Amino acid sequence: MAPSLVETPTEARPANTYKLNLGQYKEVDGHSIDRDIETGKIGGKGAKALIHECQYPHYLPTWNPQELYSPLQPFEHYEHGKDADTSFRNLLPPGTTVTNLTPTIGTEVKGIQLSSLNDAGKDELARFVAQRKVVAFRAQDFADLPIQDALEYGSYFGRHHIHPTSGAPEGFPEIHLVHRGENDKGAEEFFKARTTSVAWHSDISYEAQPPGTTFLYILNKPDVGGDTLFVDSVQAYKRLSPLFRERLHGLRATHSGIEQVNAAAARASIKRREPVVNSHPIVRTHPATGEKALYVNHQCKPCSYRPPTVRRKLTSTVTREIVGMKQEESDAILKFLYDHLAYGADFQARIKWEEGTVVIWDNRVTQHSALVDWENGQRRHLARITPQAERPYETPFEG
Ligand SMILES: [Fe+2]
Repeated sequence: MAPSLVETPTEARPANTYKLNLGQYKEVDGHSIDRDIETGKIGGKGAKALIHECQYPHYLPTWNPQELYSPLQPFEHYEHGKDADTSFRNLLPPGTTVTNLTPTIGTEVKGIQLSSLNDAGKDELARFVAQRKVVAFRAQDFADLPIQDALEYGSYFGRHHIHPTSGAPEGFPEIHLVHRGENDKGAEEFFKARTTSVAWHSDISYEAQPPGTTFLYILNKPDVGGDTLFVDSVQAYKRLSPLFRERLHGLRATHSGIEQVNAAAARASIKRREPVVNSHPIVRTHPATGEKALYVNHQCKPCSYRPPTVRRKLTSTVTREIVGMKQEESDAILKFLYDHLAYGADFQARIKWEEGTVVIWDNRVTQHSALVDWENGQRRHLARITPQAERPYETPFEG
């Protein structure tokens, strides 16, 4: 049997007190649900009292430990955004309401149905999202499509990714679920030890071919709270001085999937596939727009107060280090880039969810963070479709 990539924690603690210090709100990700409460069979103070039964029971998460997959193989990604008519006449015909949330990132669209787009419209969708970074489409019927149809739609944009650890609807491992059940107390526990749930990241950047155009649609939401933050990593790149940008070109960083699998193991969840580590350029170029974006993935607050032996593993839960640099050099540059992205409220957008909202973003040119800020125990349930794209590449510095 090949050696597992999964690293064992260095700190031995009794099983009942062990806490893997990883990944902000990811620590409170679930690995099981009470299906009777979620479907309203038993109510009491549960589902019926607070909202009602889950509106999408076929989207409830399942974790099947028997479901195992081989390592992902390379594939040729076709970027449909390159074929788009940039007048967007198929995507945004007359009568569509298009509202930009900030100058460079975030747009809200009303008046079209994504499910009705032809291929020309989908090409424009890929391009429009790449340009605006994240777009919220309101009043969609997407969540009501049969899951198979939603997946077929998403497959236009790339090969479906199957997540190594997350819950998925029964029979549809390609759907990544974000689910906080009725009366879930995980966040309460989390905030006893942590100050914020903000965890900026780009999804599954440890894969050799991370995702591009990515879909997330709401199934159940709290009355208020649970918004999603996005940061424009193209604008973040542009804000840097030419001198600093030039230094970043040619650098590569390693991205690790090990910590995510370890975190799942710590909460007795599943591992569908052995984790991988890949290196990617720190500045990547978008294949359709040609824009350059910062591509480092933190997903954890700086952990520099920890002892060096632990710190090496926990400085970030995804991006580990800049290839070829000494630890202190790598840590300093990565910390600066993480802070630059996290504090750049002047190139960020905040998306509020409404019933029927489908949010589409381009993981190549953005980072995002969920917010766990509601305390009334209301259910939050979303489904993500995550088409993989090209292997990240960079083009030369242009001054
Ligand atoms: Fe994410």
